[in-house]
Amino acid sequence: MYKESVYWDSRYEEERHLPGGHEWFGGYPDFAHLVRRELRAGIRGLVLGCGTSSLSVDLHKEGVSPLVSIDYSPVCIMEMEQRNAGVPDMSWMVMDARQLQFPDGTFDLVIEKGTLDAMMVDEKDPWTVTQATANLVDEVLSEVSRVLAPNGCFISITFSPPHFRTRHYAQPQYDWSVSCDSYGRDFHYFLYTMRKGGQLTSCDLERGRSLHKPYVPEKIPTLLACDDEDFLSNIQI
Ligand SMILES: C[S@@+](CC[C@H](N)C(=O)[O-])C[C@H]1O[C@@H](n2cnc3c(N)ncnc32)[C@H](O)[C@@H]1O
Repeated sequence: MYKESVYWDSRYEEERHLPGGHEWFGGYPDFAHLVRRELRAGIRGLVLGCGTSSLSVDLHKEGVSPLVSIDYSPVCIMEMEQRNAGVPDMSWMVMDARQLQFPDGTFDLVIEKGTLDAMMVDEKDPWTVTQATANLVDEVLSEVSRVLAPNGCFISITFSPPHFRTRHYAQPQYDWSVSCDSYGRDFHYFLYTMRKGGQLTSCDLERGRSLHKPYVPEKIPTLLACDDEDFLSNIQI
């Protein structure tokens, strides 16, 4: 259901009475030290799938201005508009992240937290990406790359570690580099930074190519040649 806008509409409708919003993968203080590296006063920002998170407000307080936040749930956007009425240079729009209605090169910073994860919810096997999900993610990433200004950056915050997520981002057609940091204490989340105009490393390119290859589990070698128990070889992680 996380892929359907009607699900999010009814969820935001139900949560309306709750004070504050819902925060996925932690609040801004948890990863601010990683985002601040990219902030300069007056950079133009876009938040994809803003939900009722405080991320947009936090970024605006940090000087990202103008700041546009989009979500395809009209209920969510109406609520965020009401909560933040009158704040200058901060706007809220109902829009699908797959069809951004902005001219090329409009933003210096595009950021999403949990939005791509919601779109990938149909995936049952983390090792193999279905063509449908690869296409869905590609629609968003192509749009993000298009609206990013030269040297601008796209930040993606997720629970998905590099061996599963980098392959989506490390595609040459997006014309960006990829780096990854993690944050959190017990459970770790990942913050990917894609820099427009940057180069992909050979290792990232290799990961990118693996997106379209079927996953073939390797046989894990047994620890000792003399160990004839094969239980380790039979574990297909
Ligand atoms: C997991 S929630 C994350 C909300 C918020 N970013 C946060 O960090 O708490 C995913 C959000 O993405 C929005 N969303 C999902 N697919 C979208 C799409 N194709 N276009 C725009 N918004 C989308 C949903 O409506 C929902 O608000």
